[in-house]
Amino acid sequence: MLWQYAHVSLLITNIGELVTNAPRDAVSVSSPGPFEAIADAAIVLDAGLVAWSGPAAEAPAADEVVDAAGRAVLPGFVDSHAHLVFAGERGAEFAARMAGLPYSAGGIRSTVAATRAASDDVLRSNLARLAGEMLAQGTTTFECKSGYGLTVADEARSVTLAGEVTPEVTYLGAHVVPAEFDGDVARYVDLVCGEMLAACAPSAKWVDVFCEDGAFGADEARAVLAAGEAAGLQPRIHANQLGPGPGVQVAVEAGAASADHCTFLSDTDVDALAASDGTVATLLPGVEFSTRSPYPDAQRLLSAGVTVAIASDCNPGSCFTSSMPLCVALAVREMRMTTAEAVWAATAGGARALRRTDVGHLGTGARGDLIMLDAPSHAYLAYRPGVPLVTGVWRSGERVA
Ligand code: NIG
Ligand code: FE
Repeated sequence: MLWQYAHVSLLITNIGELVTNAPRDAVSVSSPGPFEAIADAAIVLDAGLVAWSGPAAEAPAADEVVDAAGRAVLPGFVDSHAHLVFAGERGAEFAARMAGLPYSAGGIRSTVAATRAASDDVLRSNLARLAGEMLAQGTTTFECKSGYGLTVADEARSVTLAGEVTPEVTYLGAHVVPAEFDGDVARYVDLVCGEMLAACAPSAKWVDVFCEDGAFGADEARAVLAAGEAAGLQPRIHANQLGPGPGVQVAVEAGAASADHCTFLSDTDVDALAASDGTVATLLPGVEFSTRSPYPDAQRLLSAGVTVAIASDCNPGSCFTSSMPLCVALAVREMRMTTAEAVWAATAGGARALRRTDVGHLGTGARGDLIMLDAPSHAYLAYRPGVPLVTGVWRSGERVA
């Protein structure tokens, strides 16, 4: 029927600052470019895509017009690291941590027990609530990991449920060794690389492993990533979160899209990332905030030429925030990023970490995913921390919040 194909173009004009991160010389979709902003700008969305952007005075006509009244417009956030398929909560563990107990990977097991015991509907409604929180705060693309099931059936349903809310689904059977495999890591790795992978690969795009003391070592991580790749998945990794370790090296060797956390890095790690074939360092400052840990030094990575992304790591243990604006504020205040670097990392950087060229920027041909702030510039995300500044969200050209 004809009406299904009818669409209206939308002009958003009178934009105080339009952050585009547009590819420099491109006229069509290509990788996000460097941070780029236009003052007194306008943008046209048509058929779900960016059709035009530039000075407001030169804007073409469109079917509908929104007056931004001097507000800032940015690409929607791309949150490239989140663990949203779980049941239960760990508020008491957080409170105990703030009273002095350290964070350990072991807490994951309590969420595993709650997740296994939960019905699909409970998991689905928790997922919908978190995805809704993210959207309301300006996240228009997000990744979602399994990893709280850790049986063949529970991991398979986790990736299936994740696939209902995002195409960026990550198989994280290698999150921790579950209690029933205590003392037999090798047998669990065999399961992760065998039957569990076979059950999950059809519903996932990525394979991930928590390479850390208390989780999986370098050889185990290599085996998991190699098996995942053989099954058609692309590698990414949890690396160097709780202490120095081999995770970043494993990531670079494997050509992973991203090494996530990167809190404890040696100079060799930084050099390896800088020389890598596009392995992004994804920093998760909400984790350092919520575990009261030292923050990674983003400036050290940026000066070395490493591509840096910021993501939420939203999960019930180490960091239960879904807020990319909070992560941007923390990145600026605590990781020595400029406001432009932090906003780039939370949009274009996230897109790079997901190997996506259609989001994270507002170049012509990009997806019409953008947010409007009740503020005149992107800097307000850090300048006014904790204030809900995201007043409008468009996804694929449609207003969704
Ligand atoms: O990214 N590092 C491993 N996994 C999560 C924490 C999960 C949990 O504590 O439940 C993370 O921080
Ligand atoms: Fe994580």
